[in-house]
Amino acid sequence: MAPVISINGFSYRYPDGTDGLYDISLDIAGGEKIALIGPNGSGKSTLLLAMGAFLHGHGSIVVDGVEANKKNAKQIRRAVGSVLQNPDEQLFMPTLLEDVAFGPLNMGLGDEEVLRRSMDALGIVGLDGMKHKAPHHLSAGQKRSAAIATILSMNPKIITMDEPDTSLDPRNRNNLTSLLKSLKQTLIIATCNIPFAAALCKRAVLIDSGKIIADGPVEEIITDEKLMQSHGLETAAIPESIDF
Ligand SMILES: Nc1ncnc2c1ncn2[C@@H]1O[C@H](COP(=O)(O)OP(=O)(O)O)[C@@H](O)[C@H]1O
Ligand SMILES: [Mg+2]
Repeated sequence: MAPVISINGFSYRYPDGTDGLYDISLDIAGGEKIALIGPNGSGKSTLLLAMGAFLHGHGSIVVDGVEANKKNAKQIRRAVGSVLQNPDEQLFMPTLLEDVAFGPLNMGLGDEEVLRRSMDALGIVGLDGMKHKAPHHLSAGQKRSAAIATILSMNPKIITMDEPDTSLDPRNRNNLTSLLKSLKQTLIIATCNIPFAAALCKRAVLIDSGKIIADGPVEEIITDEKLMQSHGLETAAIPESIDF
């Protein structure tokens, strides 16, 4: 089966001259859940932004058969829903329902379909009882869930999430893990939280200094002490209860 994302020799340099990514090649199959791990500043966010056609470099990124260039950015963003690192950047309407409806409304869907999708998305993240609440009054964990709902309501084929476990307490992190596990979409999750990655993903891609260092089964990568330590990461055991 053709990969749903195919990245070939992709490099990106920020306008100030900083090398963000260098010669990245990566194929992602439909339905995969991938942990993108790496220390701070390794290029995780840059890679997720490139997958969502928010930045354009050299080499190629093909998403669902479409080249992720400037011209196709709108089409790419329908295929790839990007949950940003800071939920406040994703929540800007007066009420939660309006925030979650924003995407499907922009897609030109009818009112009934928009409402149905929005309530479904809020239900999936457990916030349907709070649809009239102002997003800035939500707790950090609820904001995270709300940001995910704004993407789910658009029903993208692929979802990227940038450190979604930040500022969550263990219970909320477990809830998030269960929610993400239940999603059928292709998921690419950037995180430095190795136990979280292990609980969720079968495959890990380790990047550092904008380059892919390792790509393989999560249990092989995160238990490799030498590899993990040399890239500023901790090792973790695979939790026994994990059922992929
Ligand atoms: N807007 C920007 N302008 C210039 N350099 C940037 C910008 N954003 C990120 N960088 C740099 O690109 C590199 C990769 O950053 P990033 O992708 O944010 O890493 P990570 O998400 O793994 O912490 C870092 O060296 C960072 O300083
Ligand atoms: Mg980042």
